[in-house]
Amino acid sequence: MVPDKLREIASSYALDGCLCTGDLCQVDEIRDIIFKHFGKFREDKRSTARLKDLVPIEVFLSSADSMQCVLDFLTDLKVPVFLSVGNADYTSPRMEMMPPDVRKASLEQRVAGMKNIHLLGKESFDFNGFQILGHSPSKMPDFSRSTRAERLWRSEVEDLFSKIVNPRRAIFVTHYPPYGTLDLVHDPGSPFHGEHAGDKFYVELIRKHQPLVFICGHIHEQQGKVDIGCTSVINPGYAYDGQAAILTLGEGVVEELDFVC
Ligand SMILES: [Fe+2]
Repeated sequence: MVPDKLREIASSYALDGCLCTGDLCQVDEIRDIIFKHFGKFREDKRSTARLKDLVPIEVFLSSADSMQCVLDFLTDLKVPVFLSVGNADYTSPRMEMMPPDVRKASLEQRVAGMKNIHLLGKESFDFNGFQILGHSPSKMPDFSRSTRAERLWRSEVEDLFSKIVNPRRAIFVTHYPPYGTLDLVHDPGSPFHGEHAGDKFYVELIRKHQPLVFICGHIHEQQGKVDIGCTSVINPGYAYDGQAAILTLGEGVVEELDFVC
């Protein structure tokens, strides 16, 4: 579902583009099941493979289909949209672990005909004089990250940061925040309550490469901006509640940043 407030924002600003940090799908029921079985998930490295045994097929199907109205909204913006993948998105690799009926329409398949939506990952995009890069992890770090998954994560992130041509013109978009910045979970219903959910390697590479802005999401309650050196780390907020951020960039600077709460 796309809240009316977000549709109003989209129509009241002359947007040049849209940066989206992922998690397009409604996953409340699935998250409840994960939280209920959380102890087992955290210890078991193969946990995501077993999720399909715990979640009814109807719940998976309606969750996967819920991304469609968000994608329709994004493509109707008629401006370039740069999208990084979140842990609640049904990408092709994640579909491999899903029951067969759910696999029919992955995120990649759905955006294939939407020419203004660009999935971030390996490519770097030129946009109005800025370079847009983004991390869409092959493996999500939700529970216990294996050494192999950790190596893959680090090589993907390092490869992307190394593509930055001019840091003052670089926009980096991810789903997860950097560790210690806009990443504190404040949700008594979550087993992660009180924990930092960010990534330490992001911090290391932000400090090293200093992109102009680093846009992240994942933590609904952490809308805001915090600087790491010369980098503005921005969480635009929880779009499902109508939150967003309107960002105006100038020559190597953030000229204006308005949060819609
Ligand atoms: Fe997330």
